[in-house]
Amino acid sequence: REGWLEVITGCMFAGKTEELIRRINVLQFAGKKVVVFKPKIDDRYSKDQVVSHCGKCIESFAVSSSKEILKLAGDAEVIAIDEVQFFDEGIIEVCNSFADQGRRVMAAGLDLDFRGEPFGVMPSLMTYAEFVTKLTAVCMRCGAPATRTQRLVDGHPARYDDPIIQVGASESYEARCRHCHEVPGRTL
Ligand code: TMP
Ligand code: MG
Ligand code: ZN
Repeated sequence: REGWLEVITGCMFAGKTEELIRRINVLQFAGKKVVVFKPKIDDRYSKDQVVSHCGKCIESFAVSSSKEILKLAGDAEVIAIDEVQFFDEGIIEVCNSFADQGRRVMAAGLDLDFRGEPFGVMPSLMTYAEFVTKLTAVCMRCGAPATRTQRLVDGHPARYDDPIIQVGASESYEARCRHCHEVPGRTL
């Protein structure tokens, strides 16, 4: 039977949004009805498009809560969500119930915040998912596979007690490996 949840995750600059757009394209070529969502908070490149760092884009609904997704999904066979780490807890039930109904849910988001700690709903979503794809970037310090996102403030590593949510791209973030990732003020 149809209906499952797939999660695309990893650090920034790993190509999560690109991979989501690729999967959406493949399904649209096959004639599937796809609807795409992103949180309103992310207006980096566009208000109502999902855009990757390299400029690929696709039409989407910018929503401010998981409830809105329920209303707007209509009878779409495929529900795609980008930047899913920014959604409220309700997104877990929304994704699970779509999948239970026989729909394919594809969610992309950051697994770790700039501190290197699990990001919001991501641990839950990843455990409920049938399929998890973890993408890596390249460490901008040493070239190793990058799994962490370094936040920079005026070129210096952001402190542990910085706010978790801060929309941005390459002006304030870079991909780092575990060893090169720096979080001043972290006690662990
Ligand atoms: P991306 O995964 O598509 O590159 O986008 C990640 C977004 O999340 C970007 O706007 C920066 C933001 N962000 C935070 O708000 N807090 C964080 O700790 C990190 C690492 C990213
Ligand atoms: Mg992205
Ligand atoms: Zn490194």
